[in-house]
Amino acid sequence: MADPICKVADIVFVRFELTDLEAQKEYLQHFGMHLVAEVDDAIHFKGTGADPFIYAATKGQQNRFVSAGYRVDARADLERLAEQFNVDIVPSTEPGGGEKVVLSDPDGLGVEVFFGMARTAAPKQDAPALNSGFDKPRQNRLQRFGKAADEWQAHDGKLVYELTSKVMRLGHTAINVADPKKSMDWYANTLGFLISDNIVLPDGMVMGGFMRCDLGDTPADHHTINITALPPEKLEAHGSFGHAGFELTESVDDLMAGHFHMKTVGKYAHEWGIGRHLLGSQMYDYWRDPAGFILEHWTDGDLLDASVPAVDASARDVILAQYGPVVPSSFNLTMPHEKAEEVRETEPSMSTLFL
Ligand SMILES: [Fe+2]
Repeated sequence: MADPICKVADIVFVRFELTDLEAQKEYLQHFGMHLVAEVDDAIHFKGTGADPFIYAATKGQQNRFVSAGYRVDARADLERLAEQFNVDIVPSTEPGGGEKVVLSDPDGLGVEVFFGMARTAAPKQDAPALNSGFDKPRQNRLQRFGKAADEWQAHDGKLVYELTSKVMRLGHTAINVADPKKSMDWYANTLGFLISDNIVLPDGMVMGGFMRCDLGDTPADHHTINITALPPEKLEAHGSFGHAGFELTESVDDLMAGHFHMKTVGKYAHEWGIGRHLLGSQMYDYWRDPAGFILEHWTDGDLLDASVPAVDASARDVILAQYGPVVPSSFNLTMPHEKAEEVRETEPSMSTLFL
């Protein structure tokens, strides 16, 4: 394959158009992000990591996924993209500044590539180490997460676990597409993504894949994008957005804390989890936001450098995970949570394929 136009260093943010920013602001704070800017009907949220923002939304007439943002390490990358796609390099007025080009992928999803965004220092590790049967790095130090039992507080006659997850960064998006080969080629040629796994059906057809950044000798997340084929009528009904996966600052306790926070707040729809994926190996917990988009908390994922070749994986590896609840039939499809409940009751889970 010819050299890609550029190799992005990482994904940075997802951008939406939403009809109700207030509801989303409240949701994202419970989800574990922090509001960094709110100007002219636009909101920007950040995590604890170095990126100036990881989630952006503008108020609009509809709920719509607009784009994913990536960053490159050299301005020459933007110049090549601008030339190849015949678009301008424009300055960014959003948190972190920098310059960007805006492209469209084969399904019409926005792809924004930034250079020169100001990044901040990453936080220091705060949580005590985890002990296992083999390895006991924590000694004479008690395992206490947050304010421990004091995180439970009474609100309106019920106990709410107040500590949220601490979202650090966006790790990946999952998108549903009309033609997976075309999309995977586009992301490989345009952003330099390598294939970690092809998802291959029993008849040999590739129905999608997991792709990562090419950072050479430096290991990168097992996937920065997950691409899955979806029939036209489902694409029409639900759009291309599958989910956005946010990595947490600390490990399993951070995931569990967020789970019990979201659960005991009692306002939001749980989608899938907690479990451990097979492809990428992350522990995952998925929630549906007020606009019907699925956002994921994850931790403890695999890292691969560019030397690791693509492998073929089966749909079974995606659908069944290593452990966790049965995947709901509403998973990776954008819809209001009431509709998702109906779909889960009326349509069989894909896991029934393996009965
Ligand atoms: Fe994910």
